[in-house]
Amino acid sequence: MEWKRKSESEARQRVFDALKNNVDYRSGSVLGIPGTYLDPKVFSAEISFVREAPYLSTLVQNPNHIGCHTLGNSESYFEGTHVLEREVIRICAENILCAEPNSIDGYMATGGTEANLQAVWIYRNYFMQMHQADLSEIAVVCSEDSHYSMQKAGDMFNVHCVLLPVDQETRKIDLQKANEKLLALKEGGVKYSVVVSNMMTTMFGSIDDVDVYAGLMKNHGFQFKIHIDAAYGGFYAPIVDDNNRINFLHPEVNSFTMDAHKMLQAPYGTGIFLIRKDWMKYAQTDAASYVVGADCTISGSRSGANAIAVWLIFAAYGRHEWFEKCSILEQRTSWLAKQLNKRGIQYFRAPLSNIITINAYQISPALASQFGLVPDDHTKPSWFKIVVMQHVTVEKLEVFLTELDKSQR
Ligand SMILES: Cc1ncc(COP(=O)(O)O)c(C=O)c1O
Repeated sequence: MEWKRKSESEARQRVFDALKNNVDYRSGSVLGIPGTYLDPKVFSAEISFVREAPYLSTLVQNPNHIGCHTLGNSESYFEGTHVLEREVIRICAENILCAEPNSIDGYMATGGTEANLQAVWIYRNYFMQMHQADLSEIAVVCSEDSHYSMQKAGDMFNVHCVLLPVDQETRKIDLQKANEKLLALKEGGVKYSVVVSNMMTTMFGSIDDVDVYAGLMKNHGFQFKIHIDAAYGGFYAPIVDDNNRINFLHPEVNSFTMDAHKMLQAPYGTGIFLIRKDWMKYAQTDAASYVVGADCTISGSRSGANAIAVWLIFAAYGRHEWFEKCSILEQRTSWLAKQLNKRGIQYFRAPLSNIITINAYQISPALASQFGLVPDDHTKPSWFKIVVMQHVTVEKLEVFLTELDKSQR
């Protein structure tokens, strides 16, 4: 699917037309849905800037996007805006992650955590249903730099969660230590693994090598499925790196998490879950019998305005302008890296990443607090990170460097 920029008026028109194809609680005669437009005393649809703004109008009309709309059987009441959610899923899967047309299912989750949980849920159920696996035989396998949602997933879905050690300099999996851990896991009776490989880790922006994981799993004789946590990097790494190989062309990669509420600057509540067709069924809850098409998502009811927000951002940029925007962040980060090099400051930066993670011994607590640098551990920091988002301009970085210089004297 092409990702083309649209004029503002064209984008507005598409959204307002979509809203016309949704149920209109005001003029329609739908009596059975336990939902309606937002409370007019607080969220008036009559204020002109709400009436004219496609996102705010959607928010006030309050479409419910419960379920997964790429599967072909959803509630008809909100079909207008479901169409735009499907376009968002297709742009992510096909344009950014190189999938074949209509080969991917997906939905807008509450965030990266939910999308990661959804993946673990699906693969756990798959191993149980198709391989008669016992819960004690299944493990989530990821690196020690992974987001804590992996431990949450292990806890919630009652499976092991194993963090493979990484080399402290390169942030790559330490093969010797990983082999030891996997051997112990195997001896403990684990046969099935849900591998979660990172496309930009939370603290370091590092990207895991999917082939290393696949090799480890094969060598140890685990049945495995690979999910990519691209919550942070999904709208950045495949765009800035022409050589990116972590996408749906890779035969071992089965699903992705991408967060629009991070790099894409969409409102919170815009995590994206993507998976190859024929896999959502392992999370199908047939007991959701009052929902057309039933439900196979963790969220249940969710706001259709989130999909519209992401659709509007895609329409405002198109692929090429989005590339330009990411390139600016990459250049600012390279500028910062050069300044740190000149000063002999030790840091980690993955190639092309817009995260710079500085060894904590060089940063005083006062400096970290003044510039809102995020530590890896609030009680005993080893690292502080700078994330070069849109608001992190070179001017702001210059002020930081001046204060850093003063603190070093
Ligand atoms: C790599 C990664 N995965 C998952 C998450 C969780 O995302 P959320 O906070 O949207 O649930 C984050 C959040 O920072 C992240 O960096």
